[in-house]
Parts: sequence; C-alpha cells; structure tokens
Amino acid sequence: MEKFYVTTPIYYVTAKPHIGHAFATIVADVLARWNRLLGKDVFFLVGTDEHGTKIEKAAREAGKTPKEFVDEVANTYIEAWRTLNISFDKFIRTTDEEHEKAVSEFTRLVWDNKDIYKGVYEGWYCVPDETFIADFEVKEGKCPECGRDVQRIKEDAYFFALSSYKEDLLKIFDENPEFVKPAARSNEILNRLKGEIRDLDITRKSVKWGIPFQLDKEQTVYVWFDALINYISALGWPNESKFTEFWPADVHVVGKEITWFHAAIWPAMLLSADIDLPKTILSHGWWTVDGKKMSKSLGNVVNPIEISKKYSVDALRYFLIKEKSIWEDGDFSEKELVSRINGELLADLGNLVARTLTLAEKFKGKIEGKQEIEDKLNMNKIKELFESYDVNSALNEIWTFVRSVNKYINDTEPWKLTGARLGAVLNNSLEALRIISILLSPFIPSTSDSIQTQLGIKLGSIDDCKFGTFNGKVKRGTNLFNKITV
Ligand code: MSP
Repeated sequence: MEKFYVTTPIYYVTAKPHIGHAFATIVADVLARWNRLLGKDVFFLVGTDEHGTKIEKAAREAGKTPKEFVDEVANTYIEAWRTLNISFDKFIRTTDEEHEKAVSEFTRLVWDNKDIYKGVYEGWYCVPDETFIADFEVKEGKCPECGRDVQRIKEDAYFFALSSYKEDLLKIFDENPEFVKPAARSNEILNRLKGEIRDLDITRKSVKWGIPFQLDKEQTVYVWFDALINYISALGWPNESKFTEFWPADVHVVGKEITWFHAAIWPAMLLSADIDLPKTILSHGWWTVDGKKMSKSLGNVVNPIEISKKYSVDALRYFLIKEKSIWEDGDFSEKELVSRINGELLADLGNLVARTLTLAEKFKGKIEGKQEIEDKLNMNKIKELFESYDVNSALNEIWTFVRSVNKYINDTEPWKLTGARLGAVLNNSLEALRIISILLSPFIPSTSDSIQTQLGIKLGSIDDCKFGTFNGKVKRGTNLFNKITV
C-alpha cells in the first residue's frame, strides 16, 4: 500500500491555538484526508514544541514549573484539534521520553560525523522566535523577523557545521526545484543559500529547560535542533518499523517564517546523520487580522474554538481554506466568514442538497437515465491541484462543480417535470451530490457525513467519483447550514 506522511509545525506551548495554527493544521488535515480517499496508508503528525527560553520564562510568569505549564497547554492543543475534527494519527510532545532519546542519538550521529565543534556564541538572540541573530541583521535593537527586542548573549556553545553543507543544499535546490513550494519562496531560500552561511549554535548553557546535551552536561540542546527531530522521533526513529514505513515525509506543512529551518537547517542535519530528506516543504502564507499580525499586545488574536462554536467547525474549516491562496497572506474578517456561509455553504451547497432531496423523497418512479453533467466535473484538474498541495485551488475547482450542478437544476426545472424525465434529472443531481460529498469530505467532513446520511450512502474513495445509477435510499434531513443574520 502506498504511504503518505504529512506533518504540521509543532507549536510553542506559550500561546493558545489561534486561527494561524488552526489554518496550518487544517491544511495538513485536508491533505491527510484526501490521501486516505486515494487509498493510501496515511500517517498524520501534529504536536507541541515544549522546551527553550520562551517556555521557561512563560512558566515562571505563570507561577508554575515548566512541566506543569507545558502539560496544561499541550492539552489545550489536543482538545482544540479534536474539536476542529483534525484526523491526526499522533500528537508528539518534545518532552516525550522517546523524543528526548532520539535527540541524543541524533546528536551522537552528527558528532561522529565530525559536524559538531565547541566554540563561543557571541551575538543576539530573539526569545519569541528562539533564533540567533548576527550583529548585521539586528535592526535598531530589534529582531529582523518579528520586530521585537533581542537579547545580547555570550556563552560557551557547541556549533553544527551548517556552512559545510552549502554545496549539498544548493544541489538539492538545483536538482529538485519543487523541494520548496511555492517557487517564489524556494527562490528566497536559494538566494539566502548563495550568500554567507554561518554555522549554527545548537546548545545553550544558560537555558536549563531543554534536553541535556549528551556530550557536555552543562549544556542543553538548542530548541530548534531539538524540535526538528520530532518528525522522525514520532515514527520511533532510530528503532521502530514505522520509520522505515513512512520516512521520508511526503510533506512538511510550515509557515513562511520557518521555511529556512525546514528547507536548509533540517536537510543539513539529515545529511549529516545520513538520513533521507523529506520530499516537499509546503510554505504557506499568514493570516492577519485587520491587516495586522496577530499578537497578544494588539489584542487581535482570533480563537478558532470560539469561532467554531459561534458558526460551526465546518464553516471555519471551509472559510480558512477557501478565503485565500495557501501561499499568500490573507486577512481574517468575521464579516467575510458570514458572507461565505450565507453565500456559498448555504446558498450553493445547502440549497442544492435541500431541493434535490425534497424532490427525490417525493418521487415514486425509477431514478435512472443518461449522464448530463459529468463533463462539468474536472477530476484530473482536482487531482493535479491536490498533487501540487494547492488545497485552496482544489476547493475552488470543486466549488465550480457545485455551482454547475445548481445551474443544471435551475435549467432543467425538475419541479415542473414528471416520470422518466424527472427520474433522469434526479439521477444526475443525486449522483453529483454523492460525488460532491466525497470530494468535500477532506474540507468539511461533518457536512459530507450529513449529506451522505441524507443520501443513504457511505463514503467511497476517489474511484467512486464517477457517474452511474444512484442507488442510495434518500431521506431528507435538517438543513446543512442556516442563514446567519448580523
Ligand atoms: N515551534 C516552532 C515550530 C517548530 S517545527 C519543528 C514554531 N511554533 S509556533 O507556535 O510559532 O508556530 C508557527 C507556525 O504556526 C507557523 O509556521 C504557521 O504554520 C502557524 N502560524 C502561526 N501564526 C500564523 C498566522 N498568523 N497565520 C498563518 N499561520 C501561522 O514556530
């Protein structure tokens, strides 16, 4: 059976989940569910990043031990992903014992390969981003990435010889231009690789909340070096067969700001440890709120759980994928969300289901007849868009089909028809709905379930997305979506 391994970033437990985290996780969930529909054996990993300065500090401020603090927030993530119907196979925490062991083993391999040496780190550090920043990168005392204050540090440290992998990394980009998606972001990474590459400090002497560095117990492992290893430790590396089965990952879903870590540092680490590289790094754009980056200080952080309670889980899932290109930034607005619920989920899909099912339930004749709308469904295009991980365009293409089925019903006016002609129009419409319920299931799984219950069928695979003679037993249920008035 073909395998598919997809991961999300592991989130810092300093913040509760917001719509940015929900977005990345839903993108990965859509890919996991789509690949299950293709009949693949899927492993979908999510998790939390629990070590480092920022968490040490947050725990202190909350008056808790780091362990108490991380346990609490990790649970918030697990609950959030369950609420949002995320079909993960494993939730990894970097405080898991197996992960800590894997980090030590990985470090040993890199050491044996002579890629670790001792030195002194003198420079800047951005605590919120957990990144080292060189003098020339600091802008007026601020982090060039997030604009927040940086700290000066000088301490003994161990370095990873990242610079010695420069040529290998350039070769990866040269041989596989699709390694990082989209192309524009791949070019940014490539340009950075062509410039000066500095070795990476991979230990911290002053940070106690971290995995002990086996080669020098006065040091802990730098949080990013620790975190990246989650993608293999979650598979039981260096032991278990799951690693052999699922590695290399098909796709790491990551936000644009952490692409460098995944597209340069992680591959170099893997090369040093002699482990295969992941196939694709999908680098997505950000959500802003009222044009601004979400932050606690601006008070504009949108909580996905509150939104899903107010509207519905599927409304949120649909909106986050439909509203903006996966690669670009987009602005979150509740007004737009409401307009997509009323104008698309209800007006296009909900009404289509309601009117087809109402007619079908009353009809006593045979539901059968020739195909009249199958050419409106472009399965090849949908498959290709999924293969290129463009879930936003895939959903747009599916929605084009939803709209053509509505148009078909408007044009054929089945409410004026009887007998065999009505049976044929109903067959086309019900078959279309059956296929739509399969195609939409990665995006809005509960809605798909409820369409299928009303159609009296069970979810099929992608191979079932072909028109035939409808053989469900219809029973009209409650409306899929209700009009939101504000
Ligand atoms: N812990 C690291 C990741 C380690 S992965 C080995 C980290 N964590 S984070 O909590 O800051 O999460 C970052 C990720 O969350 C981003 O890369 C992105 O996927 C998602 N998002 C966080 N804010 C976001 C938006 N405003 N918009 C979209 N996604 C964003 O970095």
